[in-house]
Amino acid sequence: MVYIVNKILDNKQKILEWLAEKHWWPYRNTSLEELSIEELFSTHKICVLVIKDSSNKNTIVPLAIESTRPSATSDYLKLNNMYVYEAEYMPNYWNEMSEFCRVKQYIKIHGKTIRSQLLTRESTHLIVLHELSTGDKLVVKGYRRLPPISIEEKYYEALLSTGYRYAPRPVASISYKNTPVSIVIEYIDNVGDATKPFRESFREKTRKASLKLGLAAKLGSQISSLHIALNKTPGEFSGKEIISQEDIERWSKRIQRRYSEALDLLQRLVDNADGKRIIARYEKWMKYLDLLEEKVEKAISSLNLYLDSYKIRTHQDLHLLQILYGSDGNFYFIDFEGEPGRTREELMEKEPPLRDIAVMIRSFQYLSYDLYKSKYNLTRNATSGRLLRNDPLWDWRMRHSLSMLLSYLSGSISAGIHGIHRELLLTRYNDLLYPWLIDRGLYEVIYEATYNPDRIPIPLIGLINPSIPINM
Ligand SMILES: Nc1ncnc2c1ncn2[C@@H]1O[C@H](COP(=O)(O)OP(=O)(O)O)[C@@H](O)[C@H]1O
Ligand SMILES: [Mg+2]
Repeated sequence: MVYIVNKILDNKQKILEWLAEKHWWPYRNTSLEELSIEELFSTHKICVLVIKDSSNKNTIVPLAIESTRPSATSDYLKLNNMYVYEAEYMPNYWNEMSEFCRVKQYIKIHGKTIRSQLLTRESTHLIVLHELSTGDKLVVKGYRRLPPISIEEKYYEALLSTGYRYAPRPVASISYKNTPVSIVIEYIDNVGDATKPFRESFREKTRKASLKLGLAAKLGSQISSLHIALNKTPGEFSGKEIISQEDIERWSKRIQRRYSEALDLLQRLVDNADGKRIIARYEKWMKYLDLLEEKVEKAISSLNLYLDSYKIRTHQDLHLLQILYGSDGNFYFIDFEGEPGRTREELMEKEPPLRDIAVMIRSFQYLSYDLYKSKYNLTRNATSGRLLRNDPLWDWRMRHSLSMLLSYLSGSISAGIHGIHRELLLTRYNDLLYPWLIDRGLYEVIYEATYNPDRIPIPLIGLINPSIPINM
């Protein structure tokens, strides 16, 4: 094994070129020469590498090294007559890892892997499905970008302890000296992510009768049950806590910081853009962002409504793509890694339950943008241009948002997780949602400006007109 690990490290260039083609590769704008590879640890079949760039962005890659060709994936590298491939595909991967890793088993695994395959390329990690001899199906989520803290494990443990049904049950979590390496969870039989049923109901026709608001109501009530389950056991991770003046100040600063960062990023795009048309486009978006100043101030002052109410463990990144639509017609919540880009402390923060609802409202707007674009078969630029002027699907998304919100409130108020008077919740939900709609919208502008600048108008459209109208 030492021999082959040395070979891997000797063949740095070859390994990096092969890895750079993976869907999860995080160093798209960095040349391979700037990256370093280190061995984290090795078993007799697996070598776990850590790749680093100059800013210490770490990626962890467990590699299987075998003399026979892997059956689960055709994506392997041949090095000195050995086959090298991503270890999550290995049959009984969890047993292989247990040699050097801490494997925390939550549910006993009966049977052996008879087949494994890539489940989706839509991930920043490696997601592999294992079908077992017993007929059970498991998902291995092999972390590639190292999370600052093993938070997903905590969520799954909290949910498992309450017997919660609408999230996969965790089977095992695997870590190496406090570094989370992967998590094994039950596979959820699904027909797609949660946008799917809403897309279908939209296509059926946008007439009132077919708005399928019942679906949004169901989602709202399932979110309330998620919040209740996540907070059943009081403690540092779960359970409600009183919001202090300090919390309000920290969240105010966050909104302010996000606004400044969004402005800076847009300014940088304007400065670095090539060509008149592109510059004009970024400048136009910059103008919209500039005009949000008053809204940002209003958001910050609305935070005061939360003083002395409750903060709880929330999902943080609860959008429609983080929810599966099960074959049984229920929504299933996945991906408990918190909001991407947060520090360790920010990931651990409890927040008011309504923040997750604001994130969902934002997600309905992302979806409506997409629905409009496909309905009229438009380019992204044309869609953005039209919707920035006027959003004809505003009614659609607001009705869905309201239906989700009201049903969420009916479940969560009786569970007592808000610490806000019922009447205030039911009459001033817009004021309460406002800071989080702005907070999340700004986060999205930052995210898009960093990864997909042509999508910046999507959150801008939502930020321009964020609130649910009172008389729907
Ligand atoms: N338990 C599961 N059952 C079925 N599909 C899953 C499961 N977990 C993840 N997936 C699929 O993998 C995708 C990515 O998983 P996710 O946990 O959201 O990772 P990421 O952090 O990359 O978003 C999901 O959108 C879903 O399609
Ligand atoms: Mg996800």
